[in-house]
Amino acid sequence: MGTTVKLIIYGDSTFAELVKHYFETDSNYRVVAFCVDRAYKTKDELCGLRVVALEDALSRYSPEEHHIFAAIGYKSVRVHKALFEKMLHLHYPIASYISSKAIVDASCQIGVNCLVLPGAILEPHVRVEDNCFVNSGAIVCHHATVEAHSIVAAGSLIGGYSVVGESSLIGFQASVAELRRVGKETLLAAGSVLLEDTGECAMYAGAPARMIRSHAETGIVLAK
Ligand SMILES: CC(C)(COP(=O)(O)OP(=O)(O)OC[C@H]1O[C@@H](n2cnc3c(N)ncnc32)[C@H](O)[C@@H]1OP(=O)(O)O)[C@@H](O)C(=O)NCCC(=O)NCCS
Repeated sequence: MGTTVKLIIYGDSTFAELVKHYFETDSNYRVVAFCVDRAYKTKDELCGLRVVALEDALSRYSPEEHHIFAAIGYKSVRVHKALFEKMLHLHYPIASYISSKAIVDASCQIGVNCLVLPGAILEPHVRVEDNCFVNSGAIVCHHATVEAHSIVAAGSLIGGYSVVGESSLIGFQASVAELRRVGKETLLAAGSVLLEDTGECAMYAGAPARMIRSHAETGIVLAK
């Protein structure tokens, strides 16, 4: 392990607590504070650390000495994207967490604000763009791309050369066949098997997966 770097987590949910756990137990980062938008600030402390308003973060924690990570869940993927983009304006260096228990080929490219959790496998030449979460046990096969703001849930599989379009969510144990193009803002339901390319902004489910409904107005929202 090299030099310790101080980290601020943007978010104060249980997901933010989980992200703190991963960074602190398996990286060179030490979490020093949480921050949230002032309008959403409901507590002063979390896990023994201060919760500050995002608007005050810069004056308390300098970007020269701190990195940041947006731990914004994906109940709404559009919110997950919007808050990441808001955080960019603060000009902090942005962290990513890649578990030491993930298998990530040296040829892979991984953006900022990404999580690659334990047991995930990223085969050669995979590209994971900014603000993506590749959860435990997911497999992303060679030359596949996961575009920005997307979530690859635990146990799912993305076939070789496939592209998961921006702001998509591949559900638990779902599979995308090789050479497929998943359109942006696609929700592939848990356990589904996608054999065809998809359109955009819609939910697909089943094996083989079929389009169930569009969510063009709201983007992906997981109600439960
Ligand atoms: C996609 C999902 C959100 C749909 O939930 P929902 O909105 O309550 O879905 P509905 O109950 O309205 O179902 C609509 C239709 O899709 C079908 N369907 C829903 N989920 C399905 C699934 N996983 N596999 C197959 N069919 C499914 C339903 O049977 C229903 O078909 P019908 O109209 O013929 O009865 C949910 O099934 C799911 O997969 N959630 C993702 C969980 C997950 O992976 N989280 C990961 C977080 S990292």
